[in-house]
Amino acid sequence: MATFFNPQGEGGGRLFAPATQRNRDAIAAALKDLLPPTGTLLEIASGTGEHAAHIAPQLDGWRWIASDIDAAHIASIDAWNAHTGAGLEPAALLDVGQLPWPVTPPVDAIFTANLLHIAPAEISAQLMQGAAQILAQAGVLLVYGPFMVGGAHVSPSNADFDAKLRANNPAWGVRDTLWLDGLARDAGLMLSARTAMPANNFILSFVREP
Ligand SMILES: C[S@@+](CC[C@H](N)C(=O)[O-])C[C@H]1O[C@@H](n2cnc3c(N)ncnc32)[C@H](O)[C@@H]1O
Repeated sequence: MATFFNPQGEGGGRLFAPATQRNRDAIAAALKDLLPPTGTLLEIASGTGEHAAHIAPQLDGWRWIASDIDAAHIASIDAWNAHTGAGLEPAALLDVGQLPWPVTPPVDAIFTANLLHIAPAEISAQLMQGAAQILAQAGVLLVYGPFMVGGAHVSPSNADFDAKLRANNPAWGVRDTLWLDGLARDAGLMLSARTAMPANNFILSFVREP
């Protein structure tokens, strides 16, 4: 498990990542603005499942499929779902790097939080390729986390965070929005919006190129 993701205990298989409690309400509010009223959403790299269990019940018209590469996280997501009655679909074991993903297309939205900076650069490209394979024509990929803009960090704290990430693992690092747009375009998608979030984070929206 990544250094920057520190579950602090369990209850019936539920893992706890305290950061989710700090950012989940802002993410929920943003998703309500960015998503249409109904659809199917695939969450990638769901982690403990706390985001899914908290946010999905607030998106009435949405079917939410959480997923992760880690079997312990799948168990945690399902445990959070049982504990909260959030109405999630059974969580899917999904490695972004293994295309095609084990999800029946099309999905109307894909959401992922805090993945790209704790994964090798090729995962960013594979996220775009996988999304392009399963998104509905009018679908949207929403990517939450810290990002550079125009090759520059948006705050000193993000620069420090990036340096710590790269010291921990040279393959990790805060990604640049323009670089991600290039990867998206290679896959037939494009960056369509950048929504500022608390604590120097963003939600990046990607849609199909016209
Ligand atoms: C920093 S945690 C973020 C979890 C959650 N989205 C959040 O914001 O709290 C990163 C997550 O990415 C998952 N992950 C790492 N590499 C992955 C991959 N190749 N495919 C899918 N999930 C991956 C990890 O298992 C972990 O749950």
